[in-house]
Amino acid sequence: MQELAFVNGEIMPIDEAKVPIEDRGYNFGDAVYEYIASYQGKLFCLEEHLDRLERSMAALSFPKMSRDKIREAILELFDQSGIERAGIYLQISRGVAPRDHAYPEDAQPQFMMTVRPVHEKPPEFRHQGATAITVTDQRWGRCDVKTVQLLANAMAKQQALQAGVFDAIFVSEDGVVREATSSNVIIAKDGRLITHPLTEHILPGITRHVLLEICAERSLPVEERFFDLDALYAADEVFLTGTVTEVLPIVSIDGRSIGDGKIGPLARELYQALLEKIGA
Ligand code: PDD
Repeated sequence: MQELAFVNGEIMPIDEAKVPIEDRGYNFGDAVYEYIASYQGKLFCLEEHLDRLERSMAALSFPKMSRDKIREAILELFDQSGIERAGIYLQISRGVAPRDHAYPEDAQPQFMMTVRPVHEKPPEFRHQGATAITVTDQRWGRCDVKTVQLLANAMAKQQALQAGVFDAIFVSEDGVVREATSSNVIIAKDGRLITHPLTEHILPGITRHVLLEICAERSLPVEERFFDLDALYAADEVFLTGTVTEVLPIVSIDGRSIGDGKIGPLARELYQALLEKIGA
């Protein structure tokens, strides 16, 4: 079992991997990423991650890269690491060029990855739920594109930790609840699930998508629509969804209990159903 890095075709120990100082990912945040987890030696939803990566690259007019070559590189790195429960972080930048806002004409995309064991959520979150605050969404207008411009997310996460809670939920200036710093948000009210529709203001999460499929299979009613802070506070259940986050119940927001302050039945059911789907 070995933590490894991949840089443009070469695999090496992580501390030997280097980024050129004029990489546009580093200078401009001009890079896209994916985070893919494995369960028992198998990567979950690899093709869905590749689909989203292609969409992110197309949205930023990156030159097209071979999907087969990207997949092959991911599988090779994963295989060489020998890590059964791995998290693969993959990043592709527009390339290396003298600093200039305009896109360089001849830059080659830089492709890097790391593989490490997944950092699991604390077990008490699974038993008792987690807590959150809400913060004003100060991110840019294309949150549907998975870029490395995550400073607003990092600031919000830090604000949450300083407030003694697990995470922060972004709410727009006009009160629409969007998503959390690295996961989507679903609420339950009177047996119905409600989640922000896929717009440019949230990431189209793969876990969110899998869960909506599970809901359809189980005939659980889902509404993809806007909802506000009052609806968030008044929800019977709130949970976050994401890779590694899976289905994480939030039992208190801004110091107010959600429902009875305990993990609700829909969060439990969907968490189990997701684990079954994953085969974990
Ligand atoms: N984050 N929303 C945001 C802002 C995210 O960053 C993520 C994922 C999600 C959930 O997406 P998915 O279900 O495809 O993981 C939603 C990854 C895990 C990260 O930044 O590491």
